[in-house]
Amino acid sequence: MKIIASVQGMQKITSDLHKKSKTIGFIPTMGALHKGHLKLISESKKNNDITVVSIFVNPAQFSPTEDLARYPRPLEHDKKLLEQEKVDYLFHPNVKTMYPNGFQTYVTPNNLSNILEGKSRPGHFAGVATIVLKLFNLVNPTNAYFGQKDFQQCIVIKQMVRDLNLPVKINIVPTVRDKDGLALSSRNVFLSSQERLQALSLYQSLLLGKKLILAGNKNVKKIKAEMNNYLQKYKLIRLDYIEICNIEDLSIVKVASKKAVILITAFVGKTRLIDNIII
Ligand code: PAF
Repeated sequence: MKIIASVQGMQKITSDLHKKSKTIGFIPTMGALHKGHLKLISESKKNNDITVVSIFVNPAQFSPTEDLARYPRPLEHDKKLLEQEKVDYLFHPNVKTMYPNGFQTYVTPNNLSNILEGKSRPGHFAGVATIVLKLFNLVNPTNAYFGQKDFQQCIVIKQMVRDLNLPVKINIVPTVRDKDGLALSSRNVFLSSQERLQALSLYQSLLLGKKLILAGNKNVKKIKAEMNNYLQKYKLIRLDYIEICNIEDLSIVKVASKKAVILITAFVGKTRLIDNIII
């Protein structure tokens, strides 16, 4: 695996690959890789000639009160995993490279950045869209892979690709879960054993919501109340939101149906976790 740190280096490699008509699969990450990332990599390897992974903890998507400084950065471990997976290129730029002095151009999704995660984390999706667009410009991928766990992020990226006519196909890969159902996340390392146990209640409440909808319940308020009620038993859980949304554009649905996704976000102790389930 070749490790590239410079913008020019990455651009030269991908431009040469395109000249040779190679397809490029790309997985943007912030490192602290887990089996969810490995699934994205295996999808890319199955469907492309070359696989590029980026590791860049993007300051622009963290607000000043968030966990940028304590975000895990186990770089050597990540590199080993990527070598094992036979990734072709790791793009690992530093902050100055991606945001040089004087940087001032951001991509801001309109409505999508103000709802759900965007409401709780102002500026987050402008940070995500900006870095993903920059990375797409440098890697020039044929296919890019994102995990369904960050459902709103997937919708934001798809919308950006449509709006800005970017020549890349976005592939959404189902969430990878531990055996007991906890969605894999780089932030799970922050959970104590008791918190980890209680964190399972997020997925359990999503399953409950899905069951209610599949049984014919259409009353959104009632479904959300039942899910919330289930979570009350877990004292380490502080719910941020449960929403039932249209799967295409994330508008909040008035009547629950099979075209919906249920999204949940909660603090488990001090760690903020997100999860979702497609009906
Ligand atoms: O999902 C992530 O890890 C990040 O939001 C991403 C897409 C790499 C952008 O920094």
